[in-house]
Amino acid sequence: MIKSYALRGRMSHAQESSYKNQAKYRLPYSESPVPLQELFQNTGPVICEIGFGMGKVTAAIAGENPDKNYLGIEVFKAGIGRLLWEIEKCSLHNIRVIEHDAVEVLQFMIPDQTIAAFHIFFPDPWPKRRQNKRRLIQRPFTDLLVQKLIPNGYIYMVSDCGDYADWALRELSETKNLYNAYEKFSPPQHWRPETKFEAKARAKNNSVRELFFRKAETSITAP
Ligand SMILES: C[S@@+](CC[C@H](N)C(=O)[O-])C[C@H]1O[C@@H](n2cnc3c(N)ncnc32)[C@H](O)[C@@H]1O
Repeated sequence: MIKSYALRGRMSHAQESSYKNQAKYRLPYSESPVPLQELFQNTGPVICEIGFGMGKVTAAIAGENPDKNYLGIEVFKAGIGRLLWEIEKCSLHNIRVIEHDAVEVLQFMIPDQTIAAFHIFFPDPWPKRRQNKRRLIQRPFTDLLVQKLIPNGYIYMVSDCGDYADWALRELSETKNLYNAYEKFSPPQHWRPETKFEAKARAKNNSVRELFFRKAETSITAP
């Protein structure tokens, strides 16, 4: 399977100790569906973030929204350690983390129509033409995202790579049962805190583009 990531980095001592001590917030990868209400011990909406990096934004959003549940999927161990450290430091109880490729996690672990939203902030851009096939946001993966969303659930993606943003706009626009909540790119969603990648992009005067799509209320078509 083509991977949308390259494994990198090592954990610091603090990250390693949070990784071990906060194991209850880590969910091991398995090929069986996860009962999400049982996982979070409530019936609140579940927002899934793919590729949270160091997890600072995940922790900030989760801290601001204690009535919502956040499921983070990442392959970067140091980032997972860092988010678990934030969970410990800020006593966050509404985050769970899965350390595995998001494509397989969605395929095997996430039941259909259970996710209220997907957050995908600054996915690896894979800018060279020959690398484009590694981009996460493309069909049929976007079909899988729609399959997992509840009706009216949303996909919110942000990128500082103009070519990827245009590519994602096309891929998402062509995905069945999904519609753009705005005309083309979305205005900035002010509730989203700035990430390290965003600060770097802005320092280089690279434009940051946001995409906000919603799943249609119903997929039943008229006869
Ligand atoms: C460029 S970083 C952005 C991190 C973070 N969202 C931010 O804005 O700071 C992209 C992250 O996505 C993760 N990633 C890429 N493909 C993934 C996949 N298929 N499953 C899980 N994580 C993935 C990478 O490990 C990396 O940490």
